[in-house]
Amino acid sequence: MKHLLKLGDLSTEQIIEILDLADTLKAEKKAGIEHHHLKGKTLGMIFTKASTRTRVSFEVGMYQLGGNALFLSGNDLQIGRGEPIEDTARVLSRFLDGIMIRTFKQDDVEKLAEYGSIPIINGLTDYCHPCQVLADLQTIREFKGKLAGLKLAFIGDGNNMANSLIVGCIKVGMSVSIACPNGYEPDADIVKWGQAQGKLTITNNPLEAAEGADVVYTDVWASMGQEGEAQIRRKAFEGFQVNDALMAKANDGAMVLHCLPAHREEEITAKVLEAHANEIFEEAENRMHAQKAVLVKLMK
Ligand code: CP
Ligand code: NVA
Repeated sequence: MKHLLKLGDLSTEQIIEILDLADTLKAEKKAGIEHHHLKGKTLGMIFTKASTRTRVSFEVGMYQLGGNALFLSGNDLQIGRGEPIEDTARVLSRFLDGIMIRTFKQDDVEKLAEYGSIPIINGLTDYCHPCQVLADLQTIREFKGKLAGLKLAFIGDGNNMANSLIVGCIKVGMSVSIACPNGYEPDADIVKWGQAQGKLTITNNPLEAAEGADVVYTDVWASMGQEGEAQIRRKAFEGFQVNDALMAKANDGAMVLHCLPAHREEEITAKVLEAHANEIFEEAENRMHAQKAVLVKLMK
């Protein structure tokens, strides 16, 4: 494994290895055991979109691994003034030991990997959010004791989260059902792949998707960069909400996950969010443990 650009690039074994290492690093952290696997190493973190969890979890994670993290805002880098990714990649590769990038186009992340000579980690693009789904899988396994055979229902926009959940969950033996309005389906190639595995269903009916689910997942209706469509989307996604009626369709003891930030009373009610806060905030914490595992795998 040279980079983490998207989950489609990883084998099932590689995903499970990351989750196992994430569990070990989490247990060591809780026990107060230091693990300076990346002593003297520096991670550059390029952000052209906002972030709370990704930024803080990567920065603190690098510190805990004995290394350093540099926050590089897209506005302050020359990228913001048009310097090509190809040149940025070759320059930064001479200073840094790895780069985490959060941006719009998946192609920019792939280009960074192509032209650079250090590991590249995708910290979210419009296409996918692999780091989030590794933390999600770690959380599901922690609460449910297994992954294979479970069903995840995703309610809402067929966005970056939906794309990565389909790939990540199916690779570890789960099935996925997506409920989204017409015109808001996940990436067509990912849908084709999931359906070919016989592990993916897509419906317009949220209650149907939630039927028999072990994990119910949702995300915002308007992602970063879609602020201008928020009004239209609020209408299109009416009814695509995780609420008590929907949870009644899920299996007893079903978990609720949300990558956060959440918009209460839009994609999820405050009541359901608070009832599952222990799961959702463990999921947020696991961002750090899962990413530390990725950093060790790629940079040690
Ligand atoms: N879930 C997630 O990626 O959060 P941030 O946007 O705060 O990084
Ligand atoms: N779909 C959301 C996820 C945020 C973590 C977005 O891209 O804004």
